[in-house]
Amino acid sequence: MFFVKFSVLLTLFIWCSCFSRCSCDDFPSLLTANASIAIILDREYLDNQYDDVLKEVKIIIEKILREDLKNGGLVVLYYSWTKINLRKDFTAVFSITSCDNTWEIYRDSRPENLLMIAVTEPDCPRLPYNEAIMIPMMKPGEELPQVILDSKAQHSVSWKSSVLLYDNTFDRDMISRCVIALSRDFPDESGNLVKPLSVSIYRMKETAHEWDRRKFIRNLLKALPTKFIGRNFMVLVTTQLMQSIMEIARDLKMVDTFSQWLYVVSDTNYINNNISAIMPLIDEGNNIAFIYNFTKFGEECATGLNCHAGELLRAFVLGLSKAIREEQGIYGLISDEEWEVIRPSKKERRDGILNFMLEILRDTSKCSNCTTWKVETADVWGDRYEFTSFTDETSMQSTTRKTAKTSSIGFKLINAGYWKPFDGLKMTDALFPHISHGFRGKTFHIITYHNPPWQIVSSNESGIVGEASGVIMDILSELSKKLNFTYVLHLAKISTNLNVNMTDDVNGTMTKDIHLLTTDIPSEVLNLLADNQIILGAVASTVNERYKRLINFSVPISIQPYSFLVAKPKEISRIYLFTAPFTNGTWLCLAALIVILPPILCLVNRLSPFYEFHGRRKKLGLFKIDNCFWYIYGALLQQGGLYLPHADSGRIIIGAWWLIVIVLVTTYCGNLVAFLTFPKIDIQIKTVSQLVASGSVSWGLRSGTYLEEYIRDTDLAKYEKLFKGASFYLDENDDIIDAVRHGRHIYIDWKSNLLSIMRREFLKSDSCDFALSTEDFMEEQISMLMPMNSPYLELFNLEITRLHQMGLIDRWMKEYSPKRDRCSKQSSVIEVINHIVSLDDMQGSFLVLLLGFGGGFFFFFCECILRYYYKRKEREIIKPFVE
Ligand SMILES: *[C@@H]1O[C@H](CO)[C@@H](O)[C@H](O)[C@H]1NC(C)=O
Ligand SMILES: *[C@@H]1O[C@H](CO)[C@@H](O)[C@H](O)[C@H]1NC(C)=O
Ligand SMILES: *[C@@H]1O[C@H](CO)[C@@H](O)[C@H](O)[C@H]1NC(C)=O
Ligand SMILES: *[C@@H]1O[C@H](CO)[C@@H](O)[C@H](O)[C@H]1NC(C)=O
Ligand SMILES: *[C@@H]1O[C@H](CO)[C@@H](O)[C@H](O)[C@H]1NC(C)=O
Ligand SMILES: *[C@@H]1O[C@H](CO)[C@@H](O)[C@H](O)[C@H]1NC(C)=O
Ligand SMILES: *[C@@H]1O[C@H](CO)[C@@H](O)[C@H](O)[C@H]1NC(C)=O
Ligand SMILES: *[C@@H]1O[C@H](CO)[C@@H](O)[C@H](O)[C@H]1NC(C)=O
Ligand SMILES: *[C@@H]1O[C@H](CO)[C@@H](O)[C@H](O)[C@H]1NC(C)=O
Repeated sequence: MFFVKFSVLLTLFIWCSCFSRCSCDDFPSLLTANASIAIILDREYLDNQYDDVLKEVKIIIEKILREDLKNGGLVVLYYSWTKINLRKDFTAVFSITSCDNTWEIYRDSRPENLLMIAVTEPDCPRLPYNEAIMIPMMKPGEELPQVILDSKAQHSVSWKSSVLLYDNTFDRDMISRCVIALSRDFPDESGNLVKPLSVSIYRMKETAHEWDRRKFIRNLLKALPTKFIGRNFMVLVTTQLMQSIMEIARDLKMVDTFSQWLYVVSDTNYINNNISAIMPLIDEGNNIAFIYNFTKFGEECATGLNCHAGELLRAFVLGLSKAIREEQGIYGLISDEEWEVIRPSKKERRDGILNFMLEILRDTSKCSNCTTWKVETADVWGDRYEFTSFTDETSMQSTTRKTAKTSSIGFKLINAGYWKPFDGLKMTDALFPHISHGFRGKTFHIITYHNPPWQIVSSNESGIVGEASGVIMDILSELSKKLNFTYVLHLAKISTNLNVNMTDDVNGTMTKDIHLLTTDIPSEVLNLLADNQIILGAVASTVNERYKRLINFSVPISIQPYSFLVAKPKEISRIYLFTAPFTNGTWLCLAALIVILPPILCLVNRLSPFYEFHGRRKKLGLFKIDNCFWYIYGALLQQGGLYLPHADSGRIIIGAWWLIVIVLVTTYCGNLVAFLTFPKIDIQIKTVSQLVASGSVSWGLRSGTYLEEYIRDTDLAKYEKLFKGASFYLDENDDIIDAVRHGRHIYIDWKSNLLSIMRREFLKSDSCDFALSTEDFMEEQISMLMPMNSPYLELFNLEITRLHQMGLIDRWMKEYSPKRDRCSKQSSVIEVINHIVSLDDMQGSFLVLLLGFGGGFFFFFCECILRYYYKRKEREIIKPFVE
């Protein structure tokens, strides 16, 4: 405040001291021309009071000018109607008129930057606080609608709908004025429209008996269709009834993190206002605020139109006079040139006087000092989580803690502001601080442990948490931003019989390289949660009925399906691709045909009388058996032959053979193309049913998993079989992975774990040896932990759901899961498209060629040897003859 005062003084100082050379053609300086004020007393509004008021105001002005305006002068102009032309040489306007006209005058005076001082009727939206002073004139005890109107204009409540509960403290007229105040729209300080609320109104019946009344309230609250009318309650009641309503609402669980309860209490006053008596009725996670009557009563509390008019005018004149005094005192200290540069505007002058006035009013006002309402709000979120220590202290302590927690130690009502007729509602804090600021920057102790990829927590030997990352930690940090809290991480001790590998980093913090289950929640975490010492267990954990008695789970962070790891199916070798189109039987028949047909053909040819009849020689051609053979063979390969039979008998046989050859060859070609295009893959085990039916492989999974629990207790036949045949081990190891690689074993685990194993093995061996089952079975839900019946469960769930909807959790999951590599492609779809024939596919044909050549050469040698042999024999026979 001092600063404001000072800066105003300074402004005036600068401005005043330079007035003499000022070329102020847009507004007169205070020292060259007397200030002027237009006093508008609306004859229509004041009606028969007009003459009295005018007389009174004139007396007041006279008195004030005489007593308070020591230097300079003030030109006062009176008007009895509101449609006046506000000249720009006016300094201020003082009006007593209706609300609408007040606003009209304000709109007219605004372009001229006049100081507006208004006294008007009640239930009038405030003129902007920084441009005008407005006092709504109300009878004592009728200020409530104005309070509501002002709080709405301040956007203290950001409601779209409201449920108004009231008792008979107020008459119908007052209530309807309150409802109108809530449901009308009007401009706020900055000129934006304040949106109307939809209001549902319920009256508390007056009954003689306390018991009756409670029953009535209970039935009323129970029957409220909060789904449709919202959960923002405004309750206008007496202190006593307020207690009953609070109790009943709490019993009915209508007070939670999403509902807002504003109690407006009128039967309190300056002396008698023990609102904190209801503190035991306020719980963790509630949104409850109070606006209560803090009105003073007594002789010094004057009120009335004349009182206000007098005070306001006096404050104005004092402000003006002070301004002029400052001007005169400082005049001459600053050069005229400087003045020209930093010349203040009329707006600055107005602001200066306005601030003077408000200060004077706050310090000395008698007319509006007594009527005061106070705003208090409960700051209760996150107060009860008193994390003492996470070492296993005696259970004694925890019992004492529990008893202590039932009282409301730690809860406090905070002063959020006040209401006064000329100030309106002045808020120093939000009306519902938790709705607007979440946990208000509270610090929570949160427990976690290292379990990648969910929580990756590094710590040093003394258990101090270093860096933390992982999916859960990302979610936690997003929640903390969203809900406005900070957190300190503590490490839970985990008992594990796995051989844990510590990785030291430069800073001496360690990250353990382990592979924990999510099914077991460390007992320490459970205890702390059950004890309500921590608000959240930042621990990925499988939703499990076992634990539901002790804690609540949040909505699932992730859903993990199980899958199984198998050796990558091998492609069948394609060396003998060319034999593939026919079965062995077909090949055999074909060979048999080639063996049987030539003798038959030969025989038919020889025995046919056709040749004798025509006198042909029966020596060469198809009369020789080897020629027949080569002919049949050549025909099979569609090569034709040198000879053809001349007799119809032989021709028919060969014609039939040709037909068969066409069928055979066409079939062979077609099939061969198909086999080239679609390579044959080993049969892979793809589903649980196939697995339990296969019998050729063993399978296993980690013990203690949710899957083990499930298949142990299930009565589904295939899972029963799966359980019976499975082997269980603590963790996978190289032996198991090797067995899988060689197709002897199948490993069952979360798909994500299997993917990381595949990735690891790929990096090790640079070959894709594994594949996953196509079927994902048995899904496991992973959640975070919260204390049982935590009031914040729904709130956190809502935020987590939002993170899901925004796709953030998915992104984080991807970030922490193994990168895609060439092995992550499903192996069953190997290069079906655009299969190019490779050497692998052709090598069988080359083999045949080789065999052919081999045979050819073999016969070649045989022929050579035979010839040599015959030659020698010949020589041997001839030799003696020559000798
Ligand atoms: C200002 O008012 C005073 C007293 O009413 C008067 O003496 C003075 O002449 C006026 N000054 C001007 C510049 O009108
Ligand atoms: C506030 O308290 C004062 C003093 O007790 C009382 O006169 C006035 O009527 C009360 N206001 C309301 C709205 O009840
Ligand atoms: C307020 O009420 C509480 C509970 O009824 C009581 O303990 C406390 O003394 C009261 N305080 C005052 C100032 O009356
Ligand atoms: C007005 O009320 C405030 C606080 O209630 C008090 O400090 C101040 O002295 C009062 N002023 C007068 C003139 O009564
Ligand atoms: C968090 O709470 C503090 C304390 O109330 C408040 O000042 C701050 O604005 C809040 N932050 C957010 C983002 O709401
Ligand atoms: C662990 O880290 C904390 C904080 O960084 C440090 O104060 C403490 O001495 C460290 N303890 C050990 C055993 O290094
Ligand atoms: C721990 O990790 C180191 C290197 O990171 C490795 O040499 C060692 O064999 C691992 N020990 C165990 C038990 O896994
Ligand atoms: C070590 O500590 C420094 C400062 O605290 C930090 O900037 C750095 O990232 C840390 N290094 C590692 C590997 O944690
Ligand atoms: C939290 O746990 C309690 C006790 O098991 C149960 O009654 C309640 O329904 C749970 N809340 C939710 C939202 O699941």
